[in-house]
Amino acid sequence: MNSQVTGPRVIVALDFPRGAEALALVERLNPAACRLKIGKEMFTREGPALVERLIGKGFDVFLDLKYHDIPNTVAAACAVAADLGVWMVNVHASGGRKMMEAARERLAGFAQRPLLIAVTVLTSMAAEDLAELGLGVSPEAQVLRLAALTESAGLDGVVCSPREAAAIRAQCGPGFRLVTPGVRPASASLDDQKRVMTPADAIAAGSDYLVVGRPITAAADPLASLTAINADVAQALASLSD
Ligand code: C5P
Repeated sequence: MNSQVTGPRVIVALDFPRGAEALALVERLNPAACRLKIGKEMFTREGPALVERLIGKGFDVFLDLKYHDIPNTVAAACAVAADLGVWMVNVHASGGRKMMEAARERLAGFAQRPLLIAVTVLTSMAAEDLAELGLGVSPEAQVLRLAALTESAGLDGVVCSPREAAAIRAQCGPGFRLVTPGVRPASASLDDQKRVMTPADAIAAGSDYLVVGRPITAAADPLASLTAINADVAQALASLSD
């Protein structure tokens, strides 16, 4: 188990078209029980003001903008995210070592820097999509390759499918943070997710943080759903430390 990880393990994905809906949900949640994720749609609509507002309410915010550009541009964007006070920010590992190192070095100057995480291969991509990009490897092999590059560039971890978590954990060691979407409580609808794991299984596979959207955001009682997921997570963590 990753002993550097403290606090809530669930990151609620605020996938709403408008900030008002996100804020209405957030009123029903609690920063001691979850963190929050803002993605491209919400950020493009509401901008940094919403991020600052959520941080002002005491929540840790994962700014999920998946930067991918030349090293100087990505490093500068990460520094602005750090100025905003976000808890976690991410880049595409396929931007390469120089880009990731530039981001890491720029963030090292902050007293309280965000965690810097990389996306390896988008889970929407299959072998034939990689082949079209000139990459004659399986998605699994490319994920492991980019996770190794991410670790060697000094980043804190990767976003990955819970199905990839055990292999990355074995390769990258206990301090490397694994952030996994595609998590569904056994009783929940799959929505459009195809390959899912329960919260407890994702933790057992080595995940540190679970990104959960609709099972919480679309629940009749979001706090009850979050509380149930947190109970599963706590049980899985307890059995890992036995
Ligand atoms: O509602 P749901 O739990 O499926 O939301 C999952 C969140 O994680 C969404 O914000 C989605 O964009 C994100 N995500 C994902 N699969 C990935 C990467 C990110 O579901 N491979």
